[in-house]
Amino acid sequence: MTDQAPLVPAATDGMTRRKPRVLALANQKGGVGKTTTAINLGTALAAIGETVLVVDLDPQGNASTGLGIDRRSRRVSTYDVLMGEIELRDAVLETAVPRLHIVPSTMDLSGLELDLATERDRAFRLRNAIARLNEENSFRDENNFAYSYVLIDCPPSLNLITVNAMAAANAILVPLQCEFFALEGLSQLLKTVDQVRTTLNPGLSIHGIVLTMFDARNNLSSQVVDDVRQFMGDKVYETIIPRNVRVSEAPSYGKPVLLYDLKCVGSQAYLRLASEIIQRERTLRSAAAV
Ligand SMILES: Nc1ncnc2c1ncn2[C@@H]1O[C@H](COP(=O)(O)OP(=O)(O)OP(=O)(O)O)[C@@H](O)[C@H]1O
Ligand SMILES: [Mg+2]
Repeated sequence: MTDQAPLVPAATDGMTRRKPRVLALANQKGGVGKTTTAINLGTALAAIGETVLVVDLDPQGNASTGLGIDRRSRRVSTYDVLMGEIELRDAVLETAVPRLHIVPSTMDLSGLELDLATERDRAFRLRNAIARLNEENSFRDENNFAYSYVLIDCPPSLNLITVNAMAAANAILVPLQCEFFALEGLSQLLKTVDQVRTTLNPGLSIHGIVLTMFDARNNLSSQVVDDVRQFMGDKVYETIIPRNVRVSEAPSYGKPVLLYDLKCVGSQAYLRLASEIIQRERTLRSAAAV
């Protein structure tokens, strides 16, 4: 985007500034719906009028592919940003969804841990990059900032990449698959969040837990929902994402499910999740204002 006009027009002076909310989608368990949620929650938030940046922080690059960014278009990526070779804003690409942008990833990212091994600020690379994005004058929306939400898609690991996401985030959003081993690994994840809060990011919180791939025909799914609600209480969002074949088909067309089939139950669930998240944000803001 270096040589082009900013994607989002500059705001006029005197408008209230609001920083974007940075939410990291994290769970070291693989295949639980992190990427699907990043893509479709991002799309749903944008559909409701938010301005959203998805940051693909997984070397697998599934969020980039799922949002229609083929590998040849990934001239620059989150790897270059974290290596300090390029500014985040210069790695932003548009998607087919209005108000939804992405910074794509490539396989290079899998070497990050070694490449940054001796760098003292290695855990803060993303946080600093997002902070510089916010400082950029020409890159703002009607709230005087370009993005109201930044969603970070993490890899299935608690490595330096995920630590960068947690150090940069205001809150963590945890997708949990409705399956027998759903809660396995959750305490490890919560422990890591605690460690990051103590050492790197005192403001970090758990935004919520989203149950994914719920299968109404399977008694086990309902049992998992009960168990997770009992263990995590109101941290669990009301909205449950059903298992839905349209959700799993959409990425092969490079489309979020909301563009592929807006009426399907998966799309409708992600729209409800987006409203719930916005509502939770309002509650958090008014609590902070008291
Ligand atoms: N609600 C759903 N209904 C049907 N299939 C789904 C649903 N959510 C996710 N899937 C499918 O499950 C698989 C895993 O989902 P996804 O890639 O989002 O998980 P992930 O946590 O990002 O995985 P990884 O840990 O490898 O990054 C994908 O094939 C995806 O299409
Ligand atoms: Mg993924």
